[in-house]
Amino acid sequence: MADNRPIGIFDSGLGGLTVVKELIKQLPNEQILYFGDTKRVPYGTKSRETISLFAHQDAAFLLSMDVKMIVAACGTVSSVVEDLPQVLPVPYMGVVENAARAAVAATRNGRIGVLGTEATIASGAHKRAILSILPSATVFTRACSLFVPLVEAGWYRPEDPGVMRIARTYLDDLCKEGLDTLILGCTHYPLLSQVIEGIMGRQVTLINMGTSTAAAVAKRLKVTDSLCDGTKPGKQSLFVSDLTDSFCRTASVLLGQDAQSISVKQVEIDRL
Ligand code: DGL
Repeated sequence: MADNRPIGIFDSGLGGLTVVKELIKQLPNEQILYFGDTKRVPYGTKSRETISLFAHQDAAFLLSMDVKMIVAACGTVSSVVEDLPQVLPVPYMGVVENAARAAVAATRNGRIGVLGTEATIASGAHKRAILSILPSATVFTRACSLFVPLVEAGWYRPEDPGVMRIARTYLDDLCKEGLDTLILGCTHYPLLSQVIEGIMGRQVTLINMGTSTAAAVAKRLKVTDSLCDGTKPGKQSLFVSDLTDSFCRTASVLLGQDAQSISVKQVEIDRL
């Protein structure tokens, strides 16, 4: 039976829209309800307790909107918060397992790198997920703390000031490890793909969590017969905890849509 309720997606801010973009490509008829916690971003530098509290509040908001599934489109939440799937009354999906599976499918030499926020890398979640699928893999990890503020500031192209220098500081050592696959373990990092590819070289496959997660969501909804019936055109409704002009501008770049066509509403997330 079809399920016409929206898919709920949340992230600490606007980075999760990279996952929404992939979902629109793969499931154009679905209704998507996105929450970005723009008031409390970044999560990646906060304690496990705080990240967990925020993630539960974000999920509670989506549940209050009657979603059929919840996707944590946030590398940090997916890595750190372990109890969400157990407490939610709807299916839940994070981004770590999907990225790990895509990396294992892509690697030829078993040498896989992971980039993420401090909290993501400290959790060891990607390494565990990769080794559980491919125990012989060698996993290299690197926390790239300045990547999120750079992207938030709109500096993510190779020609933007200081970007290549900062990226080299994080990536130069990894270049020497002979890895052939690199997980972009944070929602913001796909925007830095050109920069990262420029340093790592074309022979390294970059894994975008959005692509692998969107494919996993599509598969899940298909096998559980929960896709929408397609009688209404797909639509995205965006909610944030702090609404700024720059959110709408960046959202339109990330989604590849005209800023005027994007509707965004503000919610009081910390009262939930
Ligand atoms: N969304 C976060 C992630 O994917 C990045 C931004 C943050 O630190 O909150 O890890």
